[in-house]
Amino acid sequence: MVAADFVVVANRLPVDRVEGPDGEVGWRTSPGGLVAALEPMMRNVNGAWVGWAGQADTEMEPFENGGINLIPVPLSASEVAEYYEGFANDTIWPLYHDVIAPPQYHREWWDAYETVNRRFAEAAVAAVAQDGTVWVHDYQLQLVPQMVRELRPDVTIGYFHHIPFPAHGLYAQLPWRDQVLRGLLGADVIGFQRAQDATYFLTAVRRRLRYEVKGAHVTVLEADGSTRTAVARAFPISIDTAPYIELAQREDVKARAAEIRASLGNPARILLGVDRLDYTKGIRHRIKAYGELLAEGRLKVEDVTLVQVASPSRERVDAYVHLRDEIELAVSRINGDTDTMGHTAIRYLHQGYPREEMVALYLAADVMLVTALRDGMNLVAKEYVATRADNRGVLVLSEFTGAADELRQAVRVNPHDIEGVKDAIMTAVEMSPSEQSRRMRSLRRRVLDNDVDAWSSSFLKALAEVHPR
Ligand code: F6P
Repeated sequence: MVAADFVVVANRLPVDRVEGPDGEVGWRTSPGGLVAALEPMMRNVNGAWVGWAGQADTEMEPFENGGINLIPVPLSASEVAEYYEGFANDTIWPLYHDVIAPPQYHREWWDAYETVNRRFAEAAVAAVAQDGTVWVHDYQLQLVPQMVRELRPDVTIGYFHHIPFPAHGLYAQLPWRDQVLRGLLGADVIGFQRAQDATYFLTAVRRRLRYEVKGAHVTVLEADGSTRTAVARAFPISIDTAPYIELAQREDVKARAAEIRASLGNPARILLGVDRLDYTKGIRHRIKAYGELLAEGRLKVEDVTLVQVASPSRERVDAYVHLRDEIELAVSRINGDTDTMGHTAIRYLHQGYPREEMVALYLAADVMLVTALRDGMNLVAKEYVATRADNRGVLVLSEFTGAADELRQAVRVNPHDIEGVKDAIMTAVEMSPSEQSRRMRSLRRRVLDNDVDAWSSSFLKALAEVHPR
């Protein structure tokens, strides 16, 4: 493979390798917002994408998929357990999401994290051309920027952090807090979702490393005593709006939306939740609030249905196993107490769906519930807004999502405040068409004017300014 001028490094490749029951190999789009956001940009550049194919103990040669050059990084089964399920998803993930679940600190996990980060850095360095650019993504790879810089000082390095960065009082718990800050500061530009994340990061840099910080600029002290400037600021990520708008106009997708409504008994209002099954998403809080509204008679099962899509995620991490049990118990209790033969309170789907079906669901839904306890951005909120060309529909949005900084005309909620969530659901269910339209118009303007192209262009522009060629 020829050296690439532009290399993306992310934990996952855009596709996961899957094996069927007879051993046949197939490819499936990887979960999560990161891949959805980066894929469109990568189709338009002559670059390469370094990442894991989602299966342990599988060595693979670089290959092309959907017009993108993919460079697989292998992980052993123990590395999947210690680096991915362990340090990334049971240490950093809960710590960076405000300790909603208790983070586990294990030295062997840290060792595996360092080893695997080095492997990703070496793969990126082998792929990138002289004076090229490496763009590293997310919390699984926080050490890669510094490792790339040490191996290849000619390369321009960007890092984008897709999840929140915690306040210093929490960040300070991390036994490897200084190493992680130095790892990130290997980048020329360190991007965050919210201004608040960048502020927290800069505070940690000032307090832990004592580097000079002026505005978004950090004076990084290198091991040889030299200094250089790194920039840390917010670049709120977005979606590729065009496919959502196009799908929402397609007659077959509209027909599918009508079919979904009919199959639920044509309730007056359909509420929708779409999340990876993750404790950060506030699914339990949403279901609790909705269940109480039904129990109190403020909502009637004949009039409303909540469709909750909870796509399977990180199923071998204990906190996720427990969460699934809790949610499924809560759903079956509410359904058992309230369902009739013709109407169900909650249609719960522990499955992932292709984009067509998601857009049909968005079109079918009168109210979109995004009640995350903490979320870097939440692209589902933006997807819903992008599909609502008729300016109908209401977005209920947690103030603890990155999206809340931008989507000011949503009905805002504090998901911890169950009475507040109940009132927000009622406000949404009862909102007049003219009020829906006034709010949705403004939300759509914001999302359509700030799509994923605008996000990647602004990040790459900042990178070019710090490291001009
Ligand atoms: O967007 C946050 C994120 O954690 C990505 O980094 C990740 O790829 C995605 O969600 C899905 O999670 P996972 O890769 O662990 O299945």
